Amino acid sequence: MQIKNVTIIGAGVLGSQIAWQTAFKGFNVIVYDISEESLKKAKNFHRNFSEYFKLHKNATSNEIENTFSRLQYTTNLKEAIKDADLISESVPEIFEIKRDTYQKLSNLASEKTIFTTNSSTMLPSQLADYTERPEKFLALHFANPVWEANIGEIMGHKKTSPEIFDIVVNFAREIGMIPIPIKKEQSGYVLNSLLVPLLHAAETLYFDGVADYKDIDKTWMISTGAKFGPFGIIDLIGMNTLYNIIKMRGEKLKDEKILSRAEKIKKNFIDKNKLGVSTGEGFYKYPNPEYQNPEFLK
Ligand SMILES: NC(=O)c1ccc[n+]([C@@H]2O[C@H](COP(=O)([O-])OP(=O)(O)OC[C@H]3O[C@@H](n4cnc5c(N)ncnc54)[C@H](O)[C@@H]3O)[C@@H](O)[C@H]2O)c1
Repeated sequence: MQIKNVTIIGAGVLGSQIAWQTAFKGFNVIVYDISEESLKKAKNFHRNFSEYFKLHKNATSNEIENTFSRLQYTTNLKEAIKDADLISESVPEIFEIKRDTYQKLSNLASEKTIFTTNSSTMLPSQLADYTERPEKFLALHFANPVWEANIGEIMGHKKTSPEIFDIVVNFAREIGMIPIPIKKEQSGYVLNSLLVPLLHAAETLYFDGVADYKDIDKTWMISTGAKFGPFGIIDLIGMNTLYNIIKMRGEKLKDEKILSRAEKIKKNFIDKNKLGVSTGEGFYKYPNPEYQNPEFLK
């Protein structure tokens, strides 16, 4: 099966990136969102991405023009998916919203359409029953930003057809991702299975007063050669995500100490609009964070 037409469901932070990258790589893309406001924002993001691609990816004006010509935006779900070969879903990480989305999609989509979810924390088997096509449903999970952290983690569930799995692996490659096939369901895929414990260890060292965040970052950067330490990574993924991760962990373990850390993140960062790279300040100040200065590691 040849994928040509792709529909993005949910045009937020990740959906708008996936839409741009997919159109840039030559696919026809329809961007669907329930909110006109979100579509407006996505169009703005796309203008910014086009500048970024010209500056940092050597994209020609012609390539940018062609990318825009392959992108359409709509709030009409039926229209958005009628010709879709593949759907990439990036609606909010809330079970009820995902469930309702798949129930609607299952009624409206053509039989050929493959459904992929970009959920970071839900397993495909939790949603498969609502798709009415479990064999054509699996996760294709992206990292942020899609074109720099260009891995595509592909994870099916027990009923996903191996043939569909391979089609999605190929599709991931065609849109410029390095495919990472996940052989069995794993919460957090590979990336977050590695990253979440690292960030947890880092914030524990910091909040327990063991070491300053800059020294924690220096330790990681010098000893592994990484471009970022854990607090640089936290600034990239954003304080809201860190807050959610810590809060979920605190609630799961019923641990007041962990929950109080989440409140500190809220009070000292989120309430002050220090959300990380996106607002120009988190643990570090942007666009020129201290950890990029060669003196930082001396
Ligand atoms: N943000 C990240 O770094 C990141 C990375 C990997 C995966 N993800 C996953 O991507 C998904 C989306 O995350 P995000 O950060 O882009 O969220 P977001 O809040 O930025 O965007 C969600 C979008 O979905 C829209 N929406 C809400 N309800 C909808 C519905 N019923 N139908 C269609 N659109 C609807 C919203 O208007 C919004 O534009 C989540 O599953 C998340 O786990 C996020």
